[in-house]
Amino acid sequence: MDKNLNNLKKLPKHIAIIMDGNGRWAKKNGKKRVAGHEAGAKAVNKVVDAVSKLGIKHLTLYAFSTENWGRPKNEVNTLMSLLVSSLKSEIHSLLEKNIKLTAIGSLKKLPKLVQNHLYDVIKKTSLNNGTNLTLALSYGAREEINQAVIQISEKVKNNLILTRNIDETIINEHLYTKNLPDVDLLIRTSGEVRISNFLLWQIAYAELYFTNELWPEFNEDSLSMALESFNKRERRFGKTS
Ligand code: FPP
Repeated sequence: MDKNLNNLKKLPKHIAIIMDGNGRWAKKNGKKRVAGHEAGAKAVNKVVDAVSKLGIKHLTLYAFSTENWGRPKNEVNTLMSLLVSSLKSEIHSLLEKNIKLTAIGSLKKLPKLVQNHLYDVIKKTSLNNGTNLTLALSYGAREEINQAVIQISEKVKNNLILTRNIDETIINEHLYTKNLPDVDLLIRTSGEVRISNFLLWQIAYAELYFTNELWPEFNEDSLSMALESFNKRERRFGKTS
């Protein structure tokens, strides 16, 4: 990784990544889409490793969206199998690197086998206190906000929350990300410049970084460039400098 990173004055506490372009990478390289996702999984390992070495506390990866259920059945199955094989193969590395795995999304919708492996790794890494790696699986920000509204309404109905006390803290506490800080840096690969229903609430003041690289091409140097860009930005949070 770029040595200059040691000179960076500020590192984000929370990086979120929209890992896009596996399919286009496969096409570009004359391979099947499944090979694109496999190469994407390898890029995940590299980036998790780099983030953890830098001591960045939170990394959230958009691995499967609520909309991704609409892909052809065999592609959904491929992604689910890849998830299971990655969970199996990476558990030792996560433990060795002191990485804690968590997941956000409508996890009940995942196949039972995926849920079992996921909860197993979450449990086994729960005492780790290095980087917190969060996988967004069957995740959609609107659905997340929708379920928060339902939970809060129920609590209002049962007099557990007063309507006049509903504020940003209460809303935060009912999101899947209740244990995570706001996103500081959001990265999207593949040249698409949109958010695609990812962490809509949590990116309110995030710095956005878009790169034309396809996700399987994203590596330690790409991360360095994103961090250098983050470093040059002046974050005012709506105030003056
Ligand atoms: C976008 O590429 C990527 C996904 C839909 C899924 C992300 C999955 C991985 C990176 C692999 C496995 C993940 C883990 C956590 C082990 P795309 O298929 O939308 O690409 P395209 O837009 O070029 O078709």
